[in-house]
Amino acid sequence: MNIQYDNEILKEVSDSCLLCSETPCTSACPASMDVAGLIRSVRFNNAGTAAEKMPAADPCLKCSAPCMQKCLKGKISTPVQIPSLMHILAQKKEDQKTIEGEEPDLGIDFLGFHCINPFFLSSSVVGSNYEMISKAFDMGWGGVVYKTITSFPHDEVSPRFDAVYYDGNSFGGFKNLEESSEHTLQENIEILRRLKKDYPDRMVIASIMGQTEQDWEFLARQLTTAGIDALECNFSCPHMAYDGLGTDVGEHSDIVDQYVRAIKRGSDLPLIAKMSPHVSSMVPPAEAAVHAGADALATINTIKSILGIDPQSLSSGPDISGKTAVGGYSGKAVKPIALRFIYDLASSEPLKDVPLSGIGGIESWKDAFDFLSLGCRNIQVTTAVMQYGYRIIDDMISGMQYYMRTHGIHKIQDLVGKALPNIVGTDELDRDTVCYPKFQTQRCIGCGRCYLSCYDGGHQAILPLNGAKVRMDAKKCVGCHLCLKVCPVGAIIPGTRVVRKK
Ligand SMILES: Cc1cc2nc3c(=O)[nH]c(=O)nc-3n(C[C@H](O)[C@H](O)[C@H](O)COP(=O)(O)O)c2cc1C
Repeated sequence: MNIQYDNEILKEVSDSCLLCSETPCTSACPASMDVAGLIRSVRFNNAGTAAEKMPAADPCLKCSAPCMQKCLKGKISTPVQIPSLMHILAQKKEDQKTIEGEEPDLGIDFLGFHCINPFFLSSSVVGSNYEMISKAFDMGWGGVVYKTITSFPHDEVSPRFDAVYYDGNSFGGFKNLEESSEHTLQENIEILRRLKKDYPDRMVIASIMGQTEQDWEFLARQLTTAGIDALECNFSCPHMAYDGLGTDVGEHSDIVDQYVRAIKRGSDLPLIAKMSPHVSSMVPPAEAAVHAGADALATINTIKSILGIDPQSLSSGPDISGKTAVGGYSGKAVKPIALRFIYDLASSEPLKDVPLSGIGGIESWKDAFDFLSLGCRNIQVTTAVMQYGYRIIDDMISGMQYYMRTHGIHKIQDLVGKALPNIVGTDELDRDTVCYPKFQTQRCIGCGRCYLSCYDGGHQAILPLNGAKVRMDAKKCVGCHLCLKVCPVGAIIPGTRVVRKK
């Protein structure tokens, strides 16, 4: 192990973990460490907390690693290299300062409700019955937007999910063709009533979707009797089996206006309009929603997608008797698109004071942080829970608290919108200076990825390696930073910014 590459090793080892449910590695640890929990923390951007949890002396130094013998990854290929990860965490613990004091406050007001934290389940299968949601609340989730309730019947398809994979077994993107709640309206009202009674400190929101103005009004009136805290209107599902629903609404400001007014006739509960990303600008339909009476905005829903074609069957997933349909894409891949829409809403003059709930690809505290710092007071999650379970809340909470503690931030509220001034129009960007790359040759392993990318996709500013370490032809470099982005060991960093030679 080369400690110089500790971040690379932490990533490689934690990415290789299967994130098992039963965690045989933890059961096997003679030092009673929560081995699986520590690996998971590293995987979900929370290595700081993982290091804090390590015992004072590295217990893996003199251990024969029975955790690795039990590791289920060993049944496929090589077990997860657990001791390597633990040694690095033990070292980090020694290096990092312990910051004492009260845990930062994650509580935040959203639509008049004081939430214990801003981390909510988004409307989908992950919040579709009492047992699931009570489990999630017991584990620490701050609220739920319940699975969309309709008054029209529908049949679901089978299968209804497909995925594109990134590192190992984790979804880069996820496609679904799921429609609305499988329970009757009355059953849903009972579930919501029970949830609210048993968890008064958690925010319970019902998502609804009508077919006509009367239908929206009816659903709003009915759901209000459940004693919930707010309504969310689904103006954004991209794959409903009937026309005139979901994104067919959210793309048209006039229909948004009509339906929000109908909902408001049926209920005086706070109303969140869940807007569609199938627009070039979300501001006009969002403004229409707010003008008609919506109290907050949520976005994004899933994005219309086709994942690819199977070369043998020529079908595409999810394959339903040889056919598929355009369906909603979610997960990691959609986060940058979601953040851009959030930025647009948060920075638009007429909407800048409207509370925002951010959705799309949130897996860790860091993803949530991205949305909060662009103006959200609340975030919602589906795909990561479908993939990893409700347990991701542990690292969302402790990771956010670790960040806040180590940055002197006491209230999560203080993060909201803090990064907005740093996003500007392309016309406002500095074009007079250049930031050249700086090569840390002691870290370079000589793989030549920077050379290849610079030659074939850049400005031919990196010289052929010929077995040596990386060298640059400064006259050709334009400071584009492609080399930084492809370097697998972080050996290239931004240098100082200098005035551009004209
Ligand atoms: C299986 C599945 C079912 C969903 N069902 C609904 C729904 O009923 N109502 C709704 O507003 N959004 C629904 N969504 C969209 C999610 O609430 C969320 O907006 C989207 O998936 C992006 O977040 P994510 O990347 O965390 O999954 C669903 C998403 C998935 C993956």
